Formats: sequence, C-alpha cells, structure tokens
Amino acid sequence: MRNRTVIVLGADGYLGWPQAMHLSSQGYRVIAVDNLVRRRWDLECGTSSLIPISTMERRVERWRELGRGDIEWRLVDLTDAEALSDLIASTKPDAVVHFAEQRSAPFSMVDREHAVMTQLNNVAGTLNLLFALHEHAPECHLVKLGTMGEYGTPNIDIEEGFITIEHNGRTDTLPYPKLPGSFYHLSKVHDSHNIHFTCRAWGIAATDLNQGVVYGCTTPETALHPELATRFDYDGIWGTVLNRFIVQSAIGKPLTVYGSGGQTRGFLDIRDTMACVQLSIEHPAQPGEFRVFNQFTEQFSVLQLAELVRDARAAHGGETTIDHTPNPRFEKDTHFYNAKHQLLVDLGLEAHKLRSTLIDSVIATVEEHIDRVDLSQVGVSDVEWTTGRSRAATGKAQVATPAAETVA
Ligand SMILES: NC(=O)c1ccc[n+]([C@@H]2O[C@H](COP(=O)([O-])OP(=O)(O)OC[C@H]3O[C@@H](n4cnc5c(N)ncnc54)[C@H](O)[C@@H]3O)[C@@H](O)[C@H]2O)c1
Repeated sequence: MRNRTVIVLGADGYLGWPQAMHLSSQGYRVIAVDNLVRRRWDLECGTSSLIPISTMERRVERWRELGRGDIEWRLVDLTDAEALSDLIASTKPDAVVHFAEQRSAPFSMVDREHAVMTQLNNVAGTLNLLFALHEHAPECHLVKLGTMGEYGTPNIDIEEGFITIEHNGRTDTLPYPKLPGSFYHLSKVHDSHNIHFTCRAWGIAATDLNQGVVYGCTTPETALHPELATRFDYDGIWGTVLNRFIVQSAIGKPLTVYGSGGQTRGFLDIRDTMACVQLSIEHPAQPGEFRVFNQFTEQFSVLQLAELVRDARAAHGGETTIDHTPNPRFEKDTHFYNAKHQLLVDLGLEAHKLRSTLIDSVIATVEEHIDRVDLSQVGVSDVEWTTGRSRAATGKAQVATPAAETVA
C-alpha cells in the first residue's frame, strides 16, 4: 500500500492531524480533508485546546518545510455530497480513513438541535461517503472510526463486532447487539448499520474501528515542531476523563468522580491509534467484507484512573484528593465489563501501557501550558442527559458543562 493514496477525513482534529502526518511519514500520498467545524464548535462552547494548535495551512507548510513530504490540504464538508463526490472522483483513493464526525456525547445531549445536528452531520456525512465510494472508487478500503460506546455495558463479554447465537435449535453469526448511551453514540451505531449494508449490497470493503478512549497528545511527528502539535481538550464537552483529571490535579482541584466511579471503558495511547489505522490499511478488508476491530488496549474504571493520576502526582510531591459527585450521565456506575480486543494484536499491534511513562508525559504537557487553563471549564455539568435539555439558555453557558466527561 505504500506510495498509494489515502484520504484522511477529519484531518484538523485531535486524531486526524497526527494520523495524516503518520501516514505521510510512512510514504503514503496523504490528502487531508476537514471543514474546520470543530474550531467553530469550540467558539460556540467557549472551549479551546490547552495546547495551541496551528491552522491547517500552517501545519502542512511546516511539514513541508521540515522536508517531511507533502500533505495535500482540502477544505470539504462531508455533508456537501457533491463536493465529497468530486473529491473521491478526482483522487481515486486506495483507502479513506474517516474521523470526520461530531464526537462529543455531551454536545449531542445539549438539546434537540444538537442531537439532530450530530446525527445529520455524522450519518449523512458517512452516507454521502458511501455513495461517493460506490460510484467513483468501488475498490477503495473504508477505515471508519466507530466507538466502543456503541456496545454499551452488557452483562456478557463484548465480542469484536459479531456474536454467534444459537436460537431455537438454529445457529447464526450476527452483529453484536448495541446499547449506546447518547445520541452521539447512536449516530455511530447508525453509521455501522449503513456501512454493513453497503458492504453486503454493493461490495464495499470496510473496517469499522470500535475505538476506546484515546489518551496522550505526543507522537513522533507532533514532537517535531510546536506547529505540528495536536489538540488537548480538558473541558466537560470535548475533554476525556483522564485529561480532565490531570488538569484538575495540576490546578490543585479535587478530581470529580461520578458516583462510585465504577464506569469501566477501554483506553488506548494515541500512538496505538496511529498504528491500528496503519495496520488496518495495510491488511485491508476484502470487497464485500464488513470487518470490526475493537480498538483499545487496556480497560480501566473512572476511579482507577483518578487513583492513577493521584499516585502519579504524589510521586512528584503533589497532593490530590478525589471527590465523588452525583452522575449527570445516563450510565451504570457499577457493571460487568469484559471486551475482547484481539484482532488488531493478531495483525501485529504492540500496545503502549498507560501505567508506563504516559501519565508523567501528559502531566508534563499540562504543566507546560498551565497558564492557558480556563478555570470556568473545570466546573459542574449543565447538561441534563435524562431530560434532553441544558439548564442554561444560550451561548457559552448553554454548553459549558465541564464535568460530564466525554467517554468517546
Ligand atoms: N478521541 C477519542 O478518544 C475517540 C474515541 C473513540 C472514537 N473516536 C472517533 O474518532 C474520530 C476522531 O475523533 P477526534 O477526537 O479526533 O475528534 P475531533 O473533534 O478532534 O476531530 C474531528 C474532526 O472532524 C471534522 N469534521 C466534523 N464533521 C465534519 C464534516 N461534516 N465534514 C468535514 N469535517 C468534519 C472536525 O472539524 C474535526 O476537525 C471521531 O469520529 C470520534 O468519534 C475518538
């Protein structure tokens, strides 16, 4: 696959930008696509990346200036079917990596508008892509980012996409049941069904990566220059729970754990996301195949994460307390969780471990940018998941809900 064309959709995002650089450094022709909507959502929410991020123009220019190669930057909105179709027709990609979605569960739960926008953006964008591939690049391999949150927390082992069921004396292997916990997670389930259908009906080749929560912000490529940095979100709308805990501990605030903190999820290092996507591209699904990989490397409960952050701080002489607060989310805080994650290991994934140096390195990154922490983003949740309304009325206050962690 080296020297072949890969389109990275959502290339201005936390994962898309480092993935574009990673694939470029591996010799792929990379076309980086985004509509920059995430930067607009930040303005709407009054949120921003702790690490300053450059414009896409500056990023690709810096990449070129460092002699790392060309990343072709295109401003395209996936909900613009014609523009997306033109892009696929004119570039004939060998693979498309699709990160370009609204990916915050709390943002999708603010109110009707945000729920509808999330599902229109995500489901219509993916449908537009499927039609464009069918028409203009039927042999292209689609690598789509889903989420482990599609499965919910069933009281049985979670398989990788499919489960063999015996029913009334007959047996079949069927898609694993999904029980997602937000309109965002539901959009991913709808995507999975649409993709699976087009694999069966049109012969599309697709890999659905049910990804866990990603941590870390440093890859070999982002470390090359500050202008190549990727974003670090720590607020309640966009930030993941680990980032929020690390920022809370850095500013001397208690770590706010919802309920008992038994909510258990799969996690992975950002460098492993890069590797998993590359492995998927290099071992493509066959025409007509809908392949599902559970893309995470370790599972932790929220309380375990809080304790890891507290202990890592203590090792540097800092003291951190852990507070338990009522859970604003619609989720169980005590449950069974055992999700399989073998298929990417079988392809060669060598996982990084959270307990190694990662927490230390993320703590160091936060310390470096501590003067940029917005204290108003480290407060109390305002999104009421069970009513579908946010308590505040407009603007920043409407969605500034920093305590509802995004378990993406
Ligand atoms: N970050 C995680 O921990 C995590 C975990 C599981 C799954 N995922 C999935 O991985 C993908 C990337 O996540 P991320 O954290 O990098 O998100 P992000 O918000 O940082 O990046 C997403 C990018 O997609 C772009 N985008 C959104 N809608 C678009 C559209 N209609 N047209 C063009 N561009 C559009 C945004 O502008 C943004 O730059 C998402 O699909 C997310 O659901 C992320």
